[in-house]
Amino acid sequence: MKIAVAGKGGVGKTFISGTLARLLARDGYNVLAVDADPNINLASTLGITREISDKIVPLSDNESLIEERTGVAPGSSYGSVFRLTPTVGDIVKKFGVVGPDDVQLLVMGTVKGGDTGCMCPANALLRVLIQHILIRERDVVVMDMVAGLEHLGRGTAKRVDTMIVVVEPRMKSVETVRRTLKLADEIEVQEVISAGNKIRNDKERRFVEERMGELGVPVAALIPYDPAVAEADMLGVAPLDHDEGSPAVNTLVALKDYLKRRYEF
Ligand SMILES: Nc1ncnc2c1ncn2[C@@H]1O[C@H](COP(=O)(O)OP(=O)(O)OP(=O)(O)O)[C@@H](O)[C@H]1O
Ligand SMILES: [Mg+2]
Repeated sequence: MKIAVAGKGGVGKTFISGTLARLLARDGYNVLAVDADPNINLASTLGITREISDKIVPLSDNESLIEERTGVAPGSSYGSVFRLTPTVGDIVKKFGVVGPDDVQLLVMGTVKGGDTGCMCPANALLRVLIQHILIRERDVVVMDMVAGLEHLGRGTAKRVDTMIVVVEPRMKSVETVRRTLKLADEIEVQEVISAGNKIRNDKERRFVEERMGELGVPVAALIPYDPAVAEADMLGVAPLDHDEGSPAVNTLVALKDYLKRRYEF
């Protein structure tokens, strides 16, 4: 089961992907969590300590690895000839970090200029790696995406079973859903569903349901605004470790069960 989590900046992608990854791992799945953000935000949501996460280098910044696998140093001039199909089978094992509930985290980093189709060595390596991960790795992969879906090209995106677009009850966030739908359709993601987040009242709940209805996107969860999640962030701990029974975490348990039913895994 390959799940990608997308949405506008700050809507709660990392909270949702990290918590989902751990909840699925607790159900016995072998879970890989992929962080597409070079700021390594997913680690803390997964409950990986600062001490460990501080030492992680995003693969996109790992120049010696990129050079070793593609034959070309990052930043080399355009037109350099490099290996288009670098070996990647050992990368998850080598660079992944195992956290609580045995979730393995791989920090990928961002593909620079990915949306312009730049075929720089880092880009080539990450593309092949993502393809490998989506085809070969684990029972469950949860990918915390960045807004433009740069990591997914046609071909790889087909391997994503579902993309959860996170939406706050704000018009700008709805606009991002609209753009994401268009992108997802172009690259042929199997299915896009949505999860409302930081919902404070019935008006906001209805807003999300109505806007998603207009866009024809199923609403898989309506996650309340939850002070415990904000608190966990301030304390630098995982929301799941801070308050396992908080309303937002409970809603994610329901989302996890919904996904298992909907996609029969
Ligand atoms: N349901 C919620 N209730 C309260 N606070 C929340 C909730 N969901 C997320 N937050 C808080 O909102 C902030 C942004 O969340 P998060 O980092 O998960 O978003 P993001 O979409 O991954 O952001 P970015 O685009 O910067 O990666 C965090 O401080 C997080 O703790
Ligand atoms: Mg994030």
